[in-house]
Amino acid sequence: MLNKLRAKMLSLQFRSIRRAVIILIAQIPKDLERAITFGDALNHFLMISPFRPLFKFSIPKNIKVNVHDLTFDSPIISASFKDDISSLLQWQLIGIGGITYKTVLKMPSKGNLRPRIQEVSHDGNYAILNSLGLPTKGVKKFLPQINNKKLTKFNRPIGISIGGNSFEEYLSVFREIDHHLNTIDFSQFFYEINISCPNTDDGKCLSDDLESLKNLIIKFRDISSRMIVVKVSPDSTNEEVLKVCEILSDFSKTAINIGNTKYVKASDVGLSSKTFSKEGGGLSGKSLYSNTLRMVKLVASNYDLPIIATGGISSYDNVKELLDNGASLTGMATLLVSDPFQIPLINYRLAND
Ligand SMILES: Cc1cc2nc3c(=O)[nH]c(=O)nc-3n(C[C@H](O)[C@H](O)[C@H](O)COP(=O)(O)O)c2cc1C
Repeated sequence: MLNKLRAKMLSLQFRSIRRAVIILIAQIPKDLERAITFGDALNHFLMISPFRPLFKFSIPKNIKVNVHDLTFDSPIISASFKDDISSLLQWQLIGIGGITYKTVLKMPSKGNLRPRIQEVSHDGNYAILNSLGLPTKGVKKFLPQINNKKLTKFNRPIGISIGGNSFEEYLSVFREIDHHLNTIDFSQFFYEINISCPNTDDGKCLSDDLESLKNLIIKFRDISSRMIVVKVSPDSTNEEVLKVCEILSDFSKTAINIGNTKYVKASDVGLSSKTFSKEGGGLSGKSLYSNTLRMVKLVASNYDLPIIATGGISSYDNVKELLDNGASLTGMATLLVSDPFQIPLINYRLAND
């Protein structure tokens, strides 16, 4: 009861502070990234300050989910979109069942030009449009942080999202990471292959070449026995998603993540070339939800494959509906930045089901 009240109060405070920060520092010129940078710094300060215990919520014991050999303390996990330890730590404290690192590429990359992330309204819903272009510190700099003790001490699964501009790049990043993981005394790691890349310039993706995807999974499986997830795009057709499931079904310990952001033209959500550097980007937030549910139903009725439902989840009702329709886990990004204290509240309601 007291914890619920604390979560509700923190949610209210968080949303007001977030709104104030956005109004004060991200409106003129309009660029949400300034507010994100400020918010990340503030969160980092909180995570090393004596206020940290305020964020801690335990997860009820009866909502654990096993997927293959991994145990998620809650069916809610963070989608791949952040890699700073303080954000991941905040979500662990709040009661996330597992985390996924932002997609890592082989070489460091700054991503696209700013402004490349903005708040927008889509179908009357709060949404985020991003064309970050997969900024990454590159695999070499990423390796030392993978087993950060602050994160592994929760003993909840940690996903590593792998991206690439070619088959060889995916494989090379995977090899380096797997080699590193084999030296670490923490067993709850899994891999996620990011085949959808709405933000890369040439538009070429592994999702356009499923034969290569299959060959890549063959290589991954030869090297590692850890769970392999493939994350598809909501822009994929039913046939493409089912084909990915068919490929995954031929391997042990695989799962599908449905899905990534949806490509939308910037001008269709009220942005101009001054407020968005690219013609379009990946939309996230509530308006993805109906497609996420539709795809979960499609996959669950055709394949016996663990499903991570991601895209537009913003409430207990969404989580419950997805789990009832065949999802094993639910991934979140937008809710974690707009109202993270919903996580303990959803966990408590799931525990009472
Ligand atoms: C700012 C931002 C960055 C993202 N970066 C990645 C990424 O690196 N890799 C990836 O697979 N998905 C990435 N995503 C997509 C999210 O993981 C998630 O699939 C998508 O936002 C839909 O979920 P949501 O509606 O809960 O936000 C990103 C999303 C956002 C908003």
